[in-house]
Amino acid sequence: MDSTHDPSPSPRPGYNVLVASSEAHPLIKTGGLADVASSLPVALRDLGHDARLIIPAYPGALKQVRELKRLCDLRLPGVALPVRVLSGLLPERDLPVYLVDAPEHFCREGNPYTDVSGRDWGDNPERFLLFCRAICAIALGQSALNWRPDVLHCNDWQTGLAPAFLHEHESRPAIVFTIHNLAYQGLFDRATYDRLQLPASLWSVAGLEFHQRMSFIKGGIVFADRVNTVSPTYAEEVKTPRFGCGLDGLLRQLGGRFRGILNGIDYRVWNPAKDPSLLQNYSVDTIPLKVENKLELQRSFDLPRNEQVLVLGHVGRLVEQKGVDLIVDILPRLIAETDVQLVMQGAGDRELERVLTEAAARNPDRVSVNVGYDEDRAHLIEAGSDIFLMPSRFEPCGLNQMYSLRYGTVPIVHNTGGLADTIIDADDHTLGNGTATGFLFNDPNADGLWYALQKALHISRERPEQWRGMMVAGMRQDLSWEASARQYELFYAEALEARQSHATAVSA
Ligand code: ADP
Ligand code: GLC
Repeated sequence: MDSTHDPSPSPRPGYNVLVASSEAHPLIKTGGLADVASSLPVALRDLGHDARLIIPAYPGALKQVRELKRLCDLRLPGVALPVRVLSGLLPERDLPVYLVDAPEHFCREGNPYTDVSGRDWGDNPERFLLFCRAICAIALGQSALNWRPDVLHCNDWQTGLAPAFLHEHESRPAIVFTIHNLAYQGLFDRATYDRLQLPASLWSVAGLEFHQRMSFIKGGIVFADRVNTVSPTYAEEVKTPRFGCGLDGLLRQLGGRFRGILNGIDYRVWNPAKDPSLLQNYSVDTIPLKVENKLELQRSFDLPRNEQVLVLGHVGRLVEQKGVDLIVDILPRLIAETDVQLVMQGAGDRELERVLTEAAARNPDRVSVNVGYDEDRAHLIEAGSDIFLMPSRFEPCGLNQMYSLRYGTVPIVHNTGGLADTIIDADDHTLGNGTATGFLFNDPNADGLWYALQKALHISRERPEQWRGMMVAGMRQDLSWEASARQYELFYAEALEARQSHATAVSA
């Protein structure tokens, strides 16, 4: 047969990929990592890979995982009791998940990292050391699993020790480490290092040591075959002292082994045409229906119901990173000089929670704040607002601005990280050719945000056709996981190749 006329494409490599994360939606979530950890493996499976997830068996995970069964007991170095591994499927998705069941470490109220009062769990180093040990055991293959990953994909500091432990192991998989946020590094003192009885050989600047402290995240950065972060712009930013959190030099040294791969969003969860949290579903062909969600949002947040008034929305963790204080700073001008309403939802910094609650109490017809975490209301804010504010000081990727685009809610964002990579700024040129999707401002201060907001209000009022064009362009933007998953596929291939050369070099 003439092979040049063979129409069948070459078979996909079909990697086995173990994705390790400390949170995954809908089992447990504090931020975007959870969304990524459950949607990337599904997108990889859609491309023909056998991707599976491993996370700690928190109470919420034990409750929600389907077809849960006991898989094996692991004897882990430094851990007295055997650790049980359970397996099952993620709710509403055909994604196999392994749960690391160490009740003393993971069965507690609160979130994965803090107690109910917001304080870090004192034994976080022990908890995530145990998780990393379990990841390693699964990554090296267990007879009960009958499955072995070609690639281990670790995410953020909680999984950072796994690459360090596996690095020199002969039969290890290729390792990819993703930095979702460099500001969280898992830093602990030398006494903790000694208490954990980690190998002395790893205590060096070429290992886990970071300014006389131990760094979980360095384990991932130093020992993985490939390292990435979640947007191309953030990947450049973290190589500078301003954004590098002390690790910019190390990241620069990685050269071509380090890059940015933009996240996608999960269209199964974030789709205004099918979203069960909305009063009224709509799509790019039925944009006028969106206003019903605005009226519902106003009702649900006790604001006067008025479809003419523009509603600004914000959802996010209340932390320094997100620049919520800039929104607080423009509030007096917003109240005095405009008639817009502001709806905010978030939890975190107690002082910001207090300031926002007081602002809402002072301006009950204009500002409404929900201090707390509420998925349904987050969806309603995305759908019911006209404008989404995201003045983050830095933003590795950011998912909320992408949800806003998808929901026809025009984002106003600081020109940084993934925000810069996903929003096309409105200027005469982009408004003219219909490519503008939002507003970017350069200076992360109240004036920067205020001027961008004024520009947005002006265009929405004076040029409604162009405003509608922005909504349409945003809703039509391809934000799906497929393109990102394809980039990870290539990244895994590179990691496998690098792992192969490493193995050859070691055995030579
Ligand atoms: P980060 O991971 O830094 O928190 P992202 O924009 O990547 O930022 O993702 C945040 C995710 O967490 C989004 O899915 C957002 O809707 C969700 N989220 C954050 N705070 C809340 C909240 N208070 N209520 C509901 N969802 C929230
Ligand atoms: C982090 C970042 C956020 C990113 C998310 C998922 O929490 O702060 O920008 O979108 O991880 O990658």
